[in-house]
Amino acid sequence: MKIAPSILSADFSRLSEDIKTVKSAEWLHIDVMDGHFVPNLTIGPLVVNAIRPHTNQFFDTHLMIAEPEKYYQEFIAAGSDAITFHIETVRDPKALIDAIHQAQAKAGISLKPKTEVASVEPYLADLDLVLVMSVEPGFGGQTFIENSLEKIERLAKLKLEHGYDYDISVDGGINDETAKRCLCAGATVLVAGSYIFKSKDREKTIKGLRNDR
Ligand code: DX5
Ligand code: ZN
Repeated sequence: MKIAPSILSADFSRLSEDIKTVKSAEWLHIDVMDGHFVPNLTIGPLVVNAIRPHTNQFFDTHLMIAEPEKYYQEFIAAGSDAITFHIETVRDPKALIDAIHQAQAKAGISLKPKTEVASVEPYLADLDLVLVMSVEPGFGGQTFIENSLEKIERLAKLKLEHGYDYDISVDGGINDETAKRCLCAGATVLVAGSYIFKSKDREKTIKGLRNDR
């Protein structure tokens, strides 16, 4: 199981120092928003490039943008290890998965809370990651949406039945309590922003999320 602190809740004026406070996490989650697919603007490839020399952590890049096929290459060049795009934003998901793999990065698909697992089923065999949004994408600090658990269970079942090997990641409203339930449902990556970055002892909070105190 991997923890992916979302730097959306970090202090942007001192990102490199804030990253050092979550060193025990395997991944860093980078939320990219375009003010179009979601009503907020955040990080571009310049920021990814700026923080890349400060850590060896895996950069889990969550593109909440329209036309991800136009931008994925810039993020990979800047240092992203995985590119996750939204199923709601592309006409030909398989072509984009292949293009991301061709560029030597891991490929993920994310689904908004109201999007059914069935919409990503045709692509599961090719994916490295499925990201279940457990809040409406756009902002940190929202409350976990319960139907996410059924989606995680369904993705875990399909993975087992077909021998797929994607990670199942869950993003939004993760805290000690929701983390436990997501892990029981089959999640393998927990994304957490405000819960980690607003806590006093971030490393202890990460340990707590792993259920290992
Ligand atoms: C929301 C982002 C999340 C967000 C999670 O659109 O995709 O990654 O940072 O924040 P918390 O953990 O505070 O819900
Ligand atoms: Zn995210």
